[in-house]
Amino acid sequence: MRVLGISGSLRAASFNSALLRAAIRVAPPEVALTIFEGVGQLPLFNPDLEARLPPQVKALHAAVAASDALLLASPEYAHGVTGTIKNTLDWLVSFEPFVYKPVAVLNASPRAHHADAALRETLKTMSAVIVEAASISIPLLGANLTEEGMSQDPMVYPAVRRSLLALYEAVVRGRCEEGSASPLS
Ligand SMILES: Cc1cc2nc3c(=O)[nH]c(=O)nc-3n(C[C@H](O)[C@H](O)[C@H](O)COP(=O)(O)O)c2cc1C
Repeated sequence: MRVLGISGSLRAASFNSALLRAAIRVAPPEVALTIFEGVGQLPLFNPDLEARLPPQVKALHAAVAASDALLLASPEYAHGVTGTIKNTLDWLVSFEPFVYKPVAVLNASPRAHHADAALRETLKTMSAVIVEAASISIPLLGANLTEEGMSQDPMVYPAVRRSLLALYEAVVRGRCEEGSASPLS
């Protein structure tokens, strides 16, 4: 299963980006996780640009289309989502391959519940399938863990691995349901 990780933080020392990189380290063999590194290069969303997509947006679309599921990790800014993650999602609103895409939402700060709720609302509106079993909160702020530390931490490591396995199961289940629905219906 191909999973595309997207961080909503551009900060070099971002906990959310480190969590996604740690997830690559702990991913089970069934999961090939890559991170879309181009969120900071995306232009601000403008519907006028949709007729002739900028190359950075084409790269985002290609990465999303090639993935079976998405893994999002994004901080809360002023009780909302970051402009970075919202801008990235806005470029996916009219993008057909995003519809019904299984998505897991990682929250690196349980106190950031406003952004978590807003992100879920946006994803639901965009017809993503939020995989609840794979969407987890992990208290990483103040834990001072590097990406390597996260991938070895006795709380973080199993939680992230379970999340990826739950995402994998959801994707496989979705494929089975599609397969069983098509021949007779
Ligand atoms: C401009 C700004 C606004 C923030 N607003 C909130 C907030 O409303 N709630 C919160 O829990 N944390 C808030 N924070 C703290 C961030 O969630 C925290 O710095 C987090 O580490 C950022 O994620 P990152 O490490 O992935 O960059 C804010 C941080 C910044 C820079």
